[in-house]
Amino acid sequence: MTRHDPRNEPEQAGRGPARFNDSPTETTDVSRIHMRIVSREQIEPEEGLERPPWWLWAFSVLLLFGMGFYIGRYGGSFSVAAHEVEEPPVAGDQPAPIVVRGDQVYASVCQPCHQAHGHGIPGQYPPLVGSDWLLEDHETPIRILLHGLSGPVVIKGRTYNNRMPPFHDKLSNEEIAAVITYARSGWGNNAPPVTPALVDSIRQQTQGRSEWTAAELQKLRAPQLTKK
Ligand code: HEC
Repeated sequence: MTRHDPRNEPEQAGRGPARFNDSPTETTDVSRIHMRIVSREQIEPEEGLERPPWWLWAFSVLLLFGMGFYIGRYGGSFSVAAHEVEEPPVAGDQPAPIVVRGDQVYASVCQPCHQAHGHGIPGQYPPLVGSDWLLEDHETPIRILLHGLSGPVVIKGRTYNNRMPPFHDKLSNEEIAAVITYARSGWGNNAPPVTPALVDSIRQQTQGRSEWTAAELQKLRAPQLTKK
């Protein structure tokens, strides 16, 4: 055994360089120390083969659970039907009806004369609240809206002698039905609705005529006071 150069000494982990003499025990010691160091070097982990950190395991397990849950929840059991788009049910395959709002027709067409709450203006525009002409049968208000009304008329005990213009060329059957229905059920009135079909049939029967007088309407009204 040659004398050891302390500069060639493998790392001694804080133990300082070994000292040597010729004693056989010392020699054994050195080789034992050597062996220890060499064998320790062997189990030194190689770059890239270290154990992964614990949180990576935890994260991977959570990720697997998460993916499993997602597939279970949204995977649709891998069925082909899962990709079919559900159509919302359409009633009888009819196109959606155009909804006419009676309150809107009233506000834009009737309100300037009959006022916001249907009380009219005394002496000029008659009230719609509690008026027989509006509430008693279905047909009279439709006739009035289609062709107008002029001349003396008694409404809630008061005589009016004014003129209401016709609306047959300005309002559709739906609009007339909606606004009459609105007036018949608003402001304390409580009469059943009228339908666009009834407006249409009266429109056909009375086509081309001029403004009604109260007497004409009264005559039409008396025999068929329907109270439907
Ligand atoms: C330009 C003003 C004017 C407009 C707009 C008008 N009316 Fe009239 N309306 C009158 C007048 C005036 C009378 C009474 C006519 C008369 O004196 O002969 C009347 C009478 C009536 C009557 C019968 C009498 C009564 O008071 O019940 C009804 C029902 C009626 N109108 C509903 C309507 C509805 C609904 C509208 C809206 C679609 C409307 N009117 C739009 C002026 C108007």
